Amino acid sequence: MQDAMKADGRADDAGAGRYEAGRKTEDFRVYDAATPAIVHDFYRRNHAGQTHAFVQQKKQEYLGLKRARMGVWQALEYLDTLVDDSDPDTDLSQIEHCLQTAEAIRRDGHPDWFQLAGLVHDLGKVLCLWGEPQWAVVGDTFPTGCAYSPKIVLSEYFADNPDAANPRYQTRFGVYEPGCGLDKVDMSWGHDEYIYHVARPYLPEPALYMLRYHSFYAAHRDGEYEFLMDDHDREMFAWVRAFNPYDLYSKGSEKPDAAALKPYYQGLIDAYFPREIAF
Ligand SMILES: [Fe+2]
Ligand SMILES: [Fe+2]
Repeated sequence: MQDAMKADGRADDAGAGRYEAGRKTEDFRVYDAATPAIVHDFYRRNHAGQTHAFVQQKKQEYLGLKRARMGVWQALEYLDTLVDDSDPDTDLSQIEHCLQTAEAIRRDGHPDWFQLAGLVHDLGKVLCLWGEPQWAVVGDTFPTGCAYSPKIVLSEYFADNPDAANPRYQTRFGVYEPGCGLDKVDMSWGHDEYIYHVARPYLPEPALYMLRYHSFYAAHRDGEYEFLMDDHDREMFAWVRAFNPYDLYSKGSEKPDAAALKPYYQGLIDAYFPREIAF
């Protein structure tokens, strides 16, 4: 895998801590007593509300992709009015964060599809603009229908989830077969799963894994839930891990100039996506 990644993605260059502007890498994603109340409040709602049934209902509601048709850059501009309450690390606008992520990937010489993954990875947050509460759009994701890992951020708030009282959902494997593959797992609903489905016809598979699992920190950072993965997931998660530092540590960098960068990224968009895509 490592060799394959070097051949076309140079994932070995994706060193953590390269994109800090005056911040240490250990200063990111700190969830403790000093974590803002808004972040605690966010995860209290998220962990209580993301039941297995809720996820299935949201998939029914959204994955037919009948909400809107937009160009990719148009969707980025549409998203730009949103501020993400779950993120303690950034005051950037959404389009600035997406561009910063893509620019960091580009600076390291990664291929165009990898840069595009950076550009669109948070586009699923348009769910917020269609009336979904933030707890059902952003934040770390986790499997529903099986036991919660204590490594999940602020996991104490799962006590308020109705699934916590359902013994069927609280065994190690829950409703799943061992090694069933993550595609069969109902992850907590949010922007990751949604943008994966939106982009699925257009981007190569490593990019799609980056989109779908970029908020699954329990797995890509802590190695949890391996027992639900198949061999293909394990191979593809090398890409998810390669992507993560760009999403996380680019947040400390300077604000990108969206107008100046638009022609370059519109060229990349046009190479992979049609003029409008279905959301
Ligand atoms: Fe995200
Ligand atoms: Fe992001």
